[in-house]
Amino acid sequence: MRRVLTVMILAALFIPISASVLSYAEEYVPRELKGYMTNIAHRGAFAYAPENTMSAFYKAIEMGADYIEFDVQMSKDGIPVIIHDSTLNRTTNGNGYISDYTLKQLKSLDAGSWYGKEYVGETIPTLDEFLVEYGGKVNILIELKYPELYPGIEEKVAIALREFNLVQYDSHEVIIQSFNHESLKLSKELLPEIPHAVLVSKDWRKITIHQLEEIATFADYFNPSLNMVTSELVELVHHTNMSMYAYTVRNPSEAGRLYSLGVDGIISDFPDYAKLVVK
Ligand code: G3P
Ligand code: CA
Repeated sequence: MRRVLTVMILAALFIPISASVLSYAEEYVPRELKGYMTNIAHRGAFAYAPENTMSAFYKAIEMGADYIEFDVQMSKDGIPVIIHDSTLNRTTNGNGYISDYTLKQLKSLDAGSWYGKEYVGETIPTLDEFLVEYGGKVNILIELKYPELYPGIEEKVAIALREFNLVQYDSHEVIIQSFNHESLKLSKELLPEIPHAVLVSKDWRKITIHQLEEIATFADYFNPSLNMVTSELVELVHHTNMSMYAYTVRNPSEAGRLYSLGVDGIISDFPDYAKLVVK
């Protein structure tokens, strides 16, 4: 509790973002009922703000995303942080591996100026900072990124979600995904109440019904690269009682194609695209 309070105070000091667009996370409604695909903002509103920053998350909410997707890794001193690459080079003014830096060192870096001067001063968010600001107010799709580099990251994420009271059966308010299926299995054991999603690259194009059945023993979503989506694959995934969110949509025609193939949602750099494609 003391840790949560400390983070809340820090968040109030360092994240002067208005919460005026926020309400409580919308209830999960299947595609058939709402008439459009679930709209997941990739790394926040990736196309409109520096990825995986509080500005990108705020923008995504403002644009009406149903979910915010972000990537979690871990500092040298074991704090879950939100950043995509395993190194700092591309999206901050630092260099080298995330895992070689303490949280204090990571927080001293600039994670916004690479994108534009209006974002100077953005920092790498911690998972706790995100949850203080947005937990319970927006649906989230958390990717365990390179979990093989961070032993124990599954437990750290599970503890944070429980501390913030975000673990409830059937709410779909939080989904956890990973390309590392062993890590995902471990996370599902720690958080059986929460839906989990396997991420698969196009190398899995020839996946069989037996492989899907095995995946469905620990996953609730099968999230493929959009290049491998066919109507047959969608049918098989639904047949094994999983849903499908395809990644990464970067133009409206891809959104339209995926809608016509029957996917349940799209993970997109453009949170404005999913709602262009309706019944
Ligand atoms: O959510 C799917 C997508 O985020 C996976 O790819 O590399 O952007 O994390 P990446
Ligand atoms: Ca991701």
